[in-house]
Amino acid sequence: MAPSKPLLHLLSASLLVVAVVLPSAFATDVSYCDKKATYDVSVSGVEISPNPIARGKDATFSISATTGEEISGGKLVIDVSYFGWHIHSETHDLCSETSCPVSVGDFLVAHSQVLPGFTPPGPYSLQMRMYNGSNKELTCIAFGFDIGFITDVADM
Ligand SMILES: *[C@@H]1O[C@H](CO)[C@@H](O)[C@H](O)[C@H]1NC(C)=O
Repeated sequence: MAPSKPLLHLLSASLLVVAVVLPSAFATDVSYCDKKATYDVSVSGVEISPNPIARGKDATFSISATTGEEISGGKLVIDVSYFGWHIHSETHDLCSETSCPVSVGDFLVAHSQVLPGFTPPGPYSLQMRMYNGSNKELTCIAFGFDIGFITDVADM
């Protein structure tokens, strides 16, 4: 079925909004929360799968990191924002998302989550803070991601 004309207008309008508000909405550029800080854990990249994320489906964020110190355990605090509005927060055991203890060198954190019900298409950002067992902040990163609308066109 070909989408109706008003629907096409709606789609191009949303694309325009995304492009104007956040030019990098589709890229997975990671930045540190505090660009001047020297974090114990450095992050070299994030892979998002699927990209864009499908609404209501499991999304996986694979974070490539390097630590200068062995990590026996800790936690991850995830905060999700939509157009800059904080919409979701959750805390996970670090050892459930990577294998502990983490030895000195490179390691991978794989975080999977289904985004909460209120997930309109558009630009989201995720902030991830990693703490060790004594609540010392090891790193804090932020990156943007996008939730697709194509998969849900049939429901409109
Ligand atoms: C957390 O990091 C701090 C600073 O590096 C260290 O003193 C502390 O022993 C670490 N805690 C654990 C449980 O590894």
